[in-house]
Amino acid sequence: MKALNLQKAQDAAVKAARAAGALMRANLRSVKKVNSATRHDIKLELDVRCQKLIERSLFTAFPRAAVLGEEGVSGDPTAEYRWVIDPIDGTVNFTYGIPHACVSIALQRKARSASSADYPDGYDTVVGVVYDPFCDEMWTAIRRGPARLNGRPVKVSANRRLQESVVSIGFAKSRESLRGTLPYFNQLVHRVRKIRMMGAAALALTYVASGRFDAYIERGIRLWDIAAGGLILECAGGEFWRKSIPGAHAYRMVASNGLLRKSLRMPV
Ligand code: IPD
Repeated sequence: MKALNLQKAQDAAVKAARAAGALMRANLRSVKKVNSATRHDIKLELDVRCQKLIERSLFTAFPRAAVLGEEGVSGDPTAEYRWVIDPIDGTVNFTYGIPHACVSIALQRKARSASSADYPDGYDTVVGVVYDPFCDEMWTAIRRGPARLNGRPVKVSANRRLQESVVSIGFAKSRESLRGTLPYFNQLVHRVRKIRMMGAAALALTYVASGRFDAYIERGIRLWDIAAGGLILECAGGEFWRKSIPGAHAYRMVASNGLLRKSLRMPV
């Protein structure tokens, strides 16, 4: 397959993210139709609508492209290029009218060698776009380029001191991850300035990329939550450690400014 023009791909992802973001803004305070709910998670009809909108928008620039999304797959997700989409990251916040949620769109390309790939299924992320429609903040990155927020380059913090750091923790959805995270939370809270639990993984990654947080940790997260934000973080000079765990496209991860991972002592 011919190499894709990554700038064109980023432009298409930005356009699609803005379209889904407008739909999210218009519906923040509305009563949402819940498609399914578990103890710690909700899936909305709007998740599906946003993914469809993003797909339609991307397909106008890249017809027949493959999509691996939180709300389903379209085309061949083992194709040379695939879009990895979380149409609404932070769905629980969004459901309750909390304006902290975003659209996450990554373009991934099959790596030359599976052993050097960003992700163990053999893919590298080459474009990352994360859009917070409530603050109108758009983060973008193209592999090996700078990370940008609304067009301006961003960098991770230079903080080396854990006791002065702000660290975000995600509490995922499963019992296993809650059981693993709570004891860690309990000891970390005494060693940092503040812990923040904001509820949108892609935004937590971009907050580390922008120096707002010094680190962000999750014991169980899916590829669509982290593919775009992970690239943006790396392009901002940060470190994105992750490890495959049981479950489809599931990972344990520590995102940091690159200076704090060891002192965070996250049990792996
Ligand atoms: C969730 C959010 C949350 C994180 C969960 C994710 P979703 O994504 O990012 O912050 O803790 O692990 O699954 O379901 O809102 O797209």
